[in-house]
Amino acid sequence: MLSPKQIKILEWPYTGKRALICDGAVRSGKTSMMSLSFVLWAMGNFNRRAFGLCGKTVASAERNVIQPLQAMTYFPQYGFSLEYTRSAHVLTVTRGSRSNIFYVFGGRDESSYTLIQGVTLAGVLLDEVALMPRSFVEQALARCSVEGAKLWFNCNPDVPEHWFRKEWLLKLREKNASHLHFMMDDNPSLSEETKAMYRSLYSGVFKKRYIDGEWTAGDGLIYDMFDPDVHVYRNSETPLGLKYTASRTIACDYGTANPFVLLDIYDDGETVWVDNEYRWDSRDLERCGRQKTDQEYAGDFQRFMGDDPQFFCPAVVDPSAASFIVALQRRGVYVMDTDNDVPDGIRRVSSLFGRRAIRISERCEGLIGELRSYVWDSKAALMGVEKPVKSLDHGPDALRYYVNTCLPKWRYGEEE
Ligand SMILES: Nc1ncnc2c1ncn2[C@@H]1O[C@H](COP(=O)(O)OP(=O)(O)OP(=O)(O)O)[C@@H](O)[C@H]1O
Ligand SMILES: [Mg+2]
Repeated sequence: MLSPKQIKILEWPYTGKRALICDGAVRSGKTSMMSLSFVLWAMGNFNRRAFGLCGKTVASAERNVIQPLQAMTYFPQYGFSLEYTRSAHVLTVTRGSRSNIFYVFGGRDESSYTLIQGVTLAGVLLDEVALMPRSFVEQALARCSVEGAKLWFNCNPDVPEHWFRKEWLLKLREKNASHLHFMMDDNPSLSEETKAMYRSLYSGVFKKRYIDGEWTAGDGLIYDMFDPDVHVYRNSETPLGLKYTASRTIACDYGTANPFVLLDIYDDGETVWVDNEYRWDSRDLERCGRQKTDQEYAGDFQRFMGDDPQFFCPAVVDPSAASFIVALQRRGVYVMDTDNDVPDGIRRVSSLFGRRAIRISERCEGLIGELRSYVWDSKAALMGVEKPVKSLDHGPDALRYYVNTCLPKWRYGEEE
């Protein structure tokens, strides 16, 4: 069963417009219906042509577009065969004597940028276009030189000043484009429980974007859902035996002139417990007053971890701190490959706070103070870029490295 909005995506190729933009809430049925309509349009109107299927990365395009297309019973029922060659990132769709190929590109993959420069396309689908670099999108569009080529975009909302909104959504007439706005109710397959679950995953600005489908900027505090009464625990409230049963990681934000922060983190499988912190702020003349070397920091790390081997644990470290990472590795510490994506990390940490799945010990005064002063950069938002103000962000950065790198995605509501 399809919703009326989804039917509009199927009918759209016959409206005579050049571009279709679907934006709005998560899980609202944009990508799946757009992929189906795109392939049907391509197969109905072209033969032996090439098309682009683009995601944020090749891997996300495969997960969001290719795999769902391959799983659709519609295609075999109506005599289409879909064959995906993973090594070459090419989907070949055949029906009778007709055949077209669909190259998969990742907007953020360096190699895709070079590859797409060399092709001529009869149409392109850009899934999650707001997450791609503008230069990639423009390159992809410039490749669509075949007569009758169409451009298909979908995304979740971002900041109002985002280049894609300004260049496309606000210029529909000039670009000969149609716009369809989606809400979760436009996806007939979601039960009320599933919708309620997704609503519970997001708070603050993310709720406005991903649930209400609005292009909106974060204003003021980033973790406005952080409430010391709810999220901070006293020493006496530490779960019994936590250190023996939970998995431990030490997260680190590195700085020499800026503060150096370690967070001692325990995950019991449901809740993340930030149990202690260590800070060295060379500018704090009273308590510190001088800069430390990487060797000294590595020694501090080891003392913070303790010398009982049963509590040795991996480290998650600011990926730019290359020399400190080497110093830790030389001492036998296992350093994980840290995922430093800022928007993803902030959204995930927000989701965990929203669900009370992060608790912070009262001992972590520095982290608690920074969480209460961690704010969006309003000047950057006016330039279409969403990012935090870069000061007093050291504890929150360490927490973000941890959540991005160590937790399975289902913990903050994303699919594996
Ligand atoms: N009409 C439908 N019938 C059955 N399942 C559907 C229908 N529409 C969407 N779905 C399923 O619902 C899920 C979410 O849809 P989809 O991925 O298209 O949403 P989306 O709007 O692209 O979400 P996001 O913004 O999170 O990327 C998918 O598993 C999809 O297969
Ligand atoms: Mg999608």
